Amino acid sequence: MMRRHWLLVGACGWVLLVLMFVSKFINFTFRTPDEYRGRDEALNLTFPSVNTAKVQPELLAQKAEMHPSPVSSDSPPEGESPDWEVVTMHRLQLLTSVCRNSSLWDLTHTSMRKFVLDRIFVCDKHKILFCQTPKVGNTQWKKVLIVLNGKFSKVEDIPENMVHDHERNGLPRLSSMSDFEINERLNKYFKFFIVRDPFERLISAFKDKFVQNPRFEPWYKHSIAPAIVRKYRKSHRDANHSVGLHFEDFVRYLGDEPGRQYLDRQFGDHIIHWLTYAELCAPCNISYDVVGHHETLEHDAPYILRAAGISGLVAYPSIPPGITRYNRTKVEGYFSGISKRDVRRLYARYQGDFSLFGYHRPDFLLD
Ligand SMILES: *[C@@H]1O[C@H](CO)[C@@H](O)[C@H](O)[C@H]1NC(C)=O
Ligand SMILES: *[C@@H]1O[C@H](CO)[C@@H](O)[C@H](O)[C@H]1NC(C)=O
Ligand SMILES: *[C@@H]1O[C@H](CO)[C@@H](O)[C@H](O)[C@H]1NC(C)=O
Ligand SMILES: *[C@@H]1O[C@H](CO)[C@@H](O)[C@H](O)[C@H]1NC(C)=O
Ligand SMILES: *[C@@H]1O[C@H](CO)[C@@H](O)[C@H](O)[C@H]1NC(C)=O
Ligand SMILES: *[C@@H]1O[C@H](CO)[C@@H](O)[C@H](O)[C@H]1NC(C)=O
Repeated sequence: MMRRHWLLVGACGWVLLVLMFVSKFINFTFRTPDEYRGRDEALNLTFPSVNTAKVQPELLAQKAEMHPSPVSSDSPPEGESPDWEVVTMHRLQLLTSVCRNSSLWDLTHTSMRKFVLDRIFVCDKHKILFCQTPKVGNTQWKKVLIVLNGKFSKVEDIPENMVHDHERNGLPRLSSMSDFEINERLNKYFKFFIVRDPFERLISAFKDKFVQNPRFEPWYKHSIAPAIVRKYRKSHRDANHSVGLHFEDFVRYLGDEPGRQYLDRQFGDHIIHWLTYAELCAPCNISYDVVGHHETLEHDAPYILRAAGISGLVAYPSIPPGITRYNRTKVEGYFSGISKRDVRRLYARYQGDFSLFGYHRPDFLLD
């Protein structure tokens, strides 16, 4: 126990040193639209493509060896369903087959540019990569990784304002590393991310950024919302900006491909809250080991910890029962009154995410 403690302290120092060095060269704060455009340039990287049959059992077994679990694998810990490995494998099989579907190619494949590498957080000590996706409890995962990296000893000890402060929280991004270091990690580390129903996710982003705005990020209400209202509110008599963005305006903006791309260049990094998972994490280009689902997080979280070999070291914070379930009533409520044409355009944009991760087409909104 003592030895592990000192190992942790040592790793902490090391990570801090690296971070201090790295932070001199990078600037994670606001990006101007110009910088956003610059990031379109693909990076010079080589990865084993997703076609390397990542779901073959031998490979899974190899991975398990590379990440030996401190808790032996014979008895899954409490909260974890014993057949979750099978569920995970089926998800990866689906992902692989959708990635191969050429008719969805543009919606599922993403070039490995810096933008994607910015989303991925690194835990070198335990060889883990985590791609951050919004509105799926990723703050909790970041806390877990911060603890693993050694800056804090318990999830509860991390001050809320430290979690997203990447200058100080000891959680480096993959983009801060050299091409060689990036390739090494993408090839060898345990990689995961979490998704949820694409439409429910958009509702959640809309509420969080344009209605409640709990983290006080005024730019959503003061610059992004008015720009969307100006372009997409149907009746200009209705364009009372102080009333704020309606979900309908948001849907029209997201479903209008050229117009959205034009606006997104002005909005900068904030668009991560509504970009597709495919754009954020490049799941057809990086062979992830687990894609967790928010809807089943109470099974996925313990499974991920065990598969990554860290279940004995850290716990995922408890999940209030029922809070992650898909709520059709809520979805219907938000979409009621929005024209089928607009909903279909929205679906067309997120169809890749629906297919890749096995979410059902929401027929009740589209037909
Ligand atoms: C970070 O970037 C912003 C905007 O690009 C700039 O204003 C700021 O000075 C930069 N900070 C550092 C420490 O480079
Ligand atoms: C990619 O890397 C190769 C060799 O490492 C180099 O010759 C080439 O110029 C690089 N391309 C870009 C776009 O950086
Ligand atoms: C990654 O995606 C890009 C964009 O579709 C594609 O051109 C490239 O071949 C892919 N690379 C791999 C290794 O899958
Ligand atoms: C590819 O995706 C399209 C659109 O979802 C679907 O209709 C088609 O059946 C898929 N093809 C294969 C081979 O799965
Ligand atoms: C716009 O909405 C605000 C808040 O509801 C209201 O006070 C104001 O009178 C409205 N302005 C117009 C021009 O309708
Ligand atoms: C689902 O959403 C509706 C409308 O927002 C809400 O009234 C209801 O309590 C929610 N149901 C659950 C189980 O959370």
